[in-house]
Amino acid sequence: MLTVAVLISGTGSNLRALLDAAADPDYRAEVVVVGADREADGFAHAEEYGIPSFMVPWAQFASREEWGAELSAQLAVWRPDLVVLSGLMRLLPASLVDEWSPRIINTHPAYLPEFPGAHGVRDALAAGVRQSGASVIIVDNGVDSGPILAQERVPVLPGDDQHTLHDRIKPVERRLLIDVVRRIASGELDLQAASASAVAPSTVAEGDVSASPAS
Ligand code: GAR
Repeated sequence: MLTVAVLISGTGSNLRALLDAAADPDYRAEVVVVGADREADGFAHAEEYGIPSFMVPWAQFASREEWGAELSAQLAVWRPDLVVLSGLMRLLPASLVDEWSPRIINTHPAYLPEFPGAHGVRDALAAGVRQSGASVIIVDNGVDSGPILAQERVPVLPGDDQHTLHDRIKPVERRLLIDVVRRIASGELDLQAASASAVAPSTVAEGDVSASPAS
């Protein structure tokens, strides 16, 4: 059984979907702990499923590194096989990424490398594109720049606002996340190999990958 820690900041709809999927005995992954950087609504899903949770409040630490060190200490208690960032709206310090990568994945509400960062939905709308998407990636030390494990296009419809577009993206995102975790748990997807075979940033033409701060 693949043990998974899920880190959230918000409503935790992706977390909820993963918990629901893991309730199936044939799904070979289980969420062992849920963590957040603040008092998040998504804790309610963990509570409902009787899953332990912890909070490392961003506001109480002097630096990203100190916050990350405490997050790392909390994760060490649970020693999960995989860490899923599921709406965690903070950049992790390099020390934490280096400790976990490639066993740390993230969901993103855009078709990466398009629209990375904290405002993927808003930025897609502002750019006036006719399609956006959802992605699941391995976390690296860039902003949403890690190897892509799964992604799918989602149309942008006339009259869309952030809410309607995000609501159309989220079910796709949930499906991709559940499938990626299932494939990791079954051994079908090898994160080490996926990471090693990814295109090195130095071989990507300048301008192909943009970055913006997530927090
Ligand atoms: C999700 O759409 C996730 O991709 C996004 O926040 C939402 C969280 O929803 N994350 C990012 O934008 C990270 N850059 P949820 O709390 O309902 O799962």
